Amino acid sequence: MDVLGIDIGGSGVKGAPVNIDEGTLLAERYRLITPDPSTPQAVADCIDQIVKHFGWEGRIGCGYPGAVKNGVTLTAANVDENWINCNAKMLIEQVTQCKTSVINDADAAGLAEIRFGAGRDVSGVVIMITLGTGIGTALFVDGHLLPNAELGHLVIRDKDAEVRASDRARVKKNLSWKAWAKRLDEYLSYIERLFWPDLLIIGGGASKNHEKFIPHLTINTPIVSAQMYNEAGIVGAALAGIELAVDEPK
Ligand code: BGC
Repeated sequence: MDVLGIDIGGSGVKGAPVNIDEGTLLAERYRLITPDPSTPQAVADCIDQIVKHFGWEGRIGCGYPGAVKNGVTLTAANVDENWINCNAKMLIEQVTQCKTSVINDADAAGLAEIRFGAGRDVSGVVIMITLGTGIGTALFVDGHLLPNAELGHLVIRDKDAEVRASDRARVKKNLSWKAWAKRLDEYLSYIERLFWPDLLIIGGGASKNHEKFIPHLTINTPIVSAQMYNEAGIVGAALAGIELAVDEPK
């Protein structure tokens, strides 16, 4: 089964058709720069351009960088605030004329890694952490997702964790990999003490450079880099396109 996976990010809106049985992209991903301001309508228009680029008429699964329930986006840390309480599913369906599901972006990336990547066949508590514009987290127990865990907003040293330890913070503050790894280590130790995970998977933009910072981490939990890099968001969003739609007519 094929679904168009879309990953809405703070800097880019990316999409590709995905074979959700294999977890593979069926075409090279198409990326547009996130509009500024990143209002729901402007982003939905980008999604429509992606739909048209691929001549798509089937289902869409969309990853969104905030909490999402029943197609309604509830928070907006790194996108325009008009997304708060927006019925994103309905809006995207109206604009694209395609049946759509919407899921948190880190949950999407985590689903892809759990099914096809670094978390495949791993039992127990697995936490996916995406390090990009923000910090996204996805919690799994024996492969089952607890949706919308917003652990990127844990408070560390009186600051939102993602303000100190996201990849954007590294770039913005011009931190060396080692200096940034120290901040990340403090954050991950906190997660470790709260959740006692069996495996941590690091994804998002920074995971491309995992060998520059993972060796500096001192936490005890086994930690690996995501295997699907930035394809995970698209593949996982596509998976959610079917999994969240189980009760809907196909
Ligand atoms: C949002 C999360 C999102 C993460 C990564 C955070 O600011 O609150 O929902 O998963 O950024 O995009």
